[in-house]
Amino acid sequence: MKVKVATKGEVEKGKVKQVKIGDDLVALYHTDSDEWFATADICTHEYCELSYDGGKLEGYETECDCHGSKFDVRTGKVLLPPAVEDLKTYSLTIEGDDIFVEI
Ligand code: FES
Repeated sequence: MKVKVATKGEVEKGKVKQVKIGDDLVALYHTDSDEWFATADICTHEYCELSYDGGKLEGYETECDCHGSKFDVRTGKVLLPPAVEDLKTYSLTIEGDDIFVEI
């Protein structure tokens, strides 16, 4: 099922926004290169939100504010511990100004 989660103007480049889809907390990333990605918003190390305070996004890397784990927002892969488990990723599509996430 495809769900509209935001419009382009809602997330600045280099920022991360939390969107809620049902019970899922999803992090929506708008990269400096003007690409969009979506992963689970909850760090797999402990329970911290990757979107906290606009998130920490550099290139395709997001950093958890709690203990510094890093993940690739394109694949959800852990790039730096202490997290060891990859993030769930969501397929994302853009139609005009609207951002949709597949759940
Ligand atoms: S909760 Fe994210 S690094 Fe610990």
